[in-house]
Amino acid sequence: MARTFQSILITGGAGFIGSHVIRTLLKNHPAAKITNLDLLTYAGNLENLRDVENEAHYQFVKGDIQDENLIESLFDKYRFDAVVHLAAESHVDRSITNPMAFLETNIIGTATLLNAAKKAWEGNMDDKCFYHISTDEVYGSLEEEGLFTEDTPYDPRSPYSSSKASSDHLVRAWHHTYGLPIVISNCSNNYGSFQFPEKLIPLMIRNIRDQLPLPVYGEGINVRDWLWVEDHATAIDVILHKGSFGRTYNIGGLNEWRNIDLIHAIIRLVDGALGRPEGTSKSLIEFVKDRAGHDMRYAIDATRIETELGWKPSVTFEKGLEATVDWYLNSGEWLDSVTSGQYQEYYKNMYGNRGKE
Ligand code: NAD
Ligand code: DAU
Repeated sequence: MARTFQSILITGGAGFIGSHVIRTLLKNHPAAKITNLDLLTYAGNLENLRDVENEAHYQFVKGDIQDENLIESLFDKYRFDAVVHLAAESHVDRSITNPMAFLETNIIGTATLLNAAKKAWEGNMDDKCFYHISTDEVYGSLEEEGLFTEDTPYDPRSPYSSSKASSDHLVRAWHHTYGLPIVISNCSNNYGSFQFPEKLIPLMIRNIRDQLPLPVYGEGINVRDWLWVEDHATAIDVILHKGSFGRTYNIGGLNEWRNIDLIHAIIRLVDGALGRPEGTSKSLIEFVKDRAGHDMRYAIDATRIETELGWKPSVTFEKGLEATVDWYLNSGEWLDSVTSGQYQEYYKNMYGNRGKE
């Protein structure tokens, strides 16, 4: 039977996936009050939520998930009966240059939230839910064959994925030790609107638009399994309301692409949309030094969520990618505003002088 919640705390709601989750929950559960707690790091942007910011059942609080006093006071004031925890440092490349920030936010931040939920809910946990959003990267890297299932042993290999794996372990420990009602999901690579352009798809769209080099790590043969972000948000809604406590659900779209093939597909779409002759931007491709410890392949077996909870992806990659390209090309103001300032410095450190001056 589906659960209902009165007051939901979303962490990291000003980021890419979080903003879509907020939109989905407001639409599907209009009676629930949604509180979005976000620190507004470089990756968080209130522009991502302009269309819902004035909704009566939505509010934003700026703050850090590591701030114990703040979290406890929010639990006290708003009597949350559910937490959907998305706040994280999320970019693998940044975790390679600055791992400590990942340990602090992803591990200590998660433990702080778990403790606050335990304290607030102690003695009455039946109608509560702590939902931790995780990643398929905790399972490590696949060779050519096979899929990650919920029983695949953890084998994280980057500072990012090991910090996410640590947080998954903490969430399970709070369930087993203290009886906290938890669910966890591990999703594959998301794509769609409002993704920060440090990640592959929006970075490539922007660079093709601006005729900048397209940095392909290594030989471009690494494989990722891409899911439309709104399908992820729907899966999160379903798991929050129907998932079994203590259980893990893998989420993915059976949609594997080698990076280089995906980049060619994006080139075709962007050049086409901008009225350039086919193949114009192919010459921008540059094979650059590989990411350290680069995982070769991710691929998700999503049988459990499909059979137990009836969720399925709704959008084909062809349609989703086309809509994504259109969105970025029509959201020049958003793209330019998030890539001004700090982004320029990040880009220069990461890619040398391949960016715009
Ligand atoms: P994102 O980087 O776009 O957004 C992260 C958000 O968290 C930002 O709004 C940021 O301001 C906020 N944040 C960071 N540190 C914080 C702190 N200390 N306190 C409060 N807020 C803080 O990330 P995303 O891509 O939307 O990912 C969201 C979640 O989903 C993450 O937990 C990530 O591990 C997971 N995930 C992402 C993907 C993907 O493809 N993007 C796939 C699977 C799982
Ligand atoms: O699998 C889920 C994960 O997907 C999430 O947990 C992470 O938060 C999210 O960032 C994403 O991680 P990846 O490392 O797979 O995504 P990214 O977009 O950074 O890179 C995708 C692939 O493209 C990867 O093989 C590295 C490659 N790449 C990336 C960039 C930014 C390039 O070749 N060139 C680039 O410039």
